[in-house]
Amino acid sequence: MQKYIGAQAVIDKKRKYIMPCLGHFYKNPPQFVKGYMQHLYDVDGKQYLDCYGGVSVINCGHCNPEIINKMIEQIQTLQHVCNIYLTENFVNLAEKLAEVTPGDLQKSFFCSTGTEANEGALLLASIYTGSSEYIALKSGLHGRTKLTMSLTGIGMWRTDPNPVGGINFAPNPYCYRCPLNKKYPECDLECANQVEEIIKTATSGKVAALIAESIQGNAGIVVPPQGYFKRVKEILNKYGALLIIDEVQTGFARSGKMFAIENFDVEPDIMSVAKALGNGQPISAFISTAKIADKYTRPGASTLGGNPVSSVAGLAVLEYIEKHKLCDNAKDRGEQLRNGLVELSKKYPIIGDVRGLGLMTGAEFIHSDKSPAFEELDTVLEEMKDRGFIIGKNGVGRNVMAFQPPLVITEADINDVLNALDLVLNKL
Ligand SMILES: Cc1ncc(COP(=O)(O)O)c(C=O)c1O
Repeated sequence: MQKYIGAQAVIDKKRKYIMPCLGHFYKNPPQFVKGYMQHLYDVDGKQYLDCYGGVSVINCGHCNPEIINKMIEQIQTLQHVCNIYLTENFVNLAEKLAEVTPGDLQKSFFCSTGTEANEGALLLASIYTGSSEYIALKSGLHGRTKLTMSLTGIGMWRTDPNPVGGINFAPNPYCYRCPLNKKYPECDLECANQVEEIIKTATSGKVAALIAESIQGNAGIVVPPQGYFKRVKEILNKYGALLIIDEVQTGFARSGKMFAIENFDVEPDIMSVAKALGNGQPISAFISTAKIADKYTRPGASTLGGNPVSSVAGLAVLEYIEKHKLCDNAKDRGEQLRNGLVELSKKYPIIGDVRGLGLMTGAEFIHSDKSPAFEELDTVLEEMKDRGFIIGKNGVGRNVMAFQPPLVITEADINDVLNALDLVLNKL
C-alpha cells in the first residue's frame, strides 16, 4: 500500500489549504519523503543529489546521525520550558557562538527564524543609537515582517503596500552588472562611497544601522569586491551608525569560513544567524558586543527561542563543523565546482558569469545581449532534477543557478553534477 499521498495530491491540498503566496519549484515537482546526508529521496525511492541544502540550511547533511541522535536524546528528556526558566543548553550555545563569531561579538538573543533575528538586530541597533533610520542594499533580502520586508531590496519579495519609512537603499556591490556602470578597482568602490552620500543627503545624519548580507543570496550570489565592507564600516563609524551583517544564508562554514564576513576582514557590530545553525531545527539568533547588547535591558523573551532541543542542535552543528572540517571541504569543493562551471561557460556562452565563495556558488544564465535567460535556466533545472540533481535558483532576474549543497558533498558528487550539466546544456 502506498504510504504517501503523492506529488499531485500535495499540490491539490496546497491549492485548497495553503495561502497562494507560497510557490514551489518545477513543472513536475517530486514529493520528497526522506533525506540522508547529501541525498534526498522521493516517494518512488528515486535518489537525488541535493545541491541546494533546503536553501542553505542543511550544511551538515540531512538527518545527520551525529546531530539528530543528540536531538532525540534531548527531546525524550526535556523538550521545552521557555528560557524564562533555567536550562543549560542555550547558555552553552551562546558561549560557543561567542567563541566562533568574529571580533568581540559576545551576547546572543535566541529566536526561531532569520526574519526574527534580523528584526531583533534592527531593534537592538535602534535601542543603542536612539535612531530608527536604516540603510539597506538594493537586491538584499532580510525577511517577511513589516520592517525586514521594508529593508528588502527585491521587488518580488516586497509585498507590503505600506512599507516603513526612514529607510534608504544603497547600490549593491554587483560587479557583473555594476549599477553605477563602473569597473572594479578603478571605481574606487563608488558603491560603498554612496553610503556616505546617502547619510548626508537622505537621512537626519543619525542612522541606526546599515544591514547587509555578506554575500547576497537571493540577489543571485552577489559577492562584494574586496575592500567594500571595510569602506562601508569606516563610513558608518564616522556617523555613529552600526553595521548589521545578515549571515542567515551565508553562516556556518558555507563560504569556506565559519561566517562569510570573515572573508572581508571586517567585524560587524551585530550579526544575525539562522538556517544552518539548526541544520533543519528552527533556531536563530542575533549576537552583539557586550557594549551594545547591554543596552537591551527592558524585558524581552521569545517563547521558543533557544529551547533545549534547538540549542542542542546548534551545539551539535558547531561540533560537527569543526570535527569534520566543513570549512575546508566547502572551500575545496567550491573551487572544484567553480572551475568546472567556468570550463562549461567556455563551451556554453549561456553561462555569463560564475561567482561565489566556498559552497555558495552562482552561475548566471544570459542571452547574447546579456539579458536574463530565466526560461532556459528553468528548462535546465527541470532536466537536472529528472536526472537526479536538485539545484536552486535565485537572482533578481530569476536567472542564477544556485549551488548551496550540504557541505559534506564529495569530489565525486561535484564531478557528477558537472557531467550531467554538460549533457543538459549540450541538449539546450
Ligand atoms: C539573507 C536572508 N535573511 C533573512 C531571511 C529570512 O529568513 P527566514 O525565512 O528564516 O525568516 C532569509 C531567507 O531566505 C535570507 O536569505
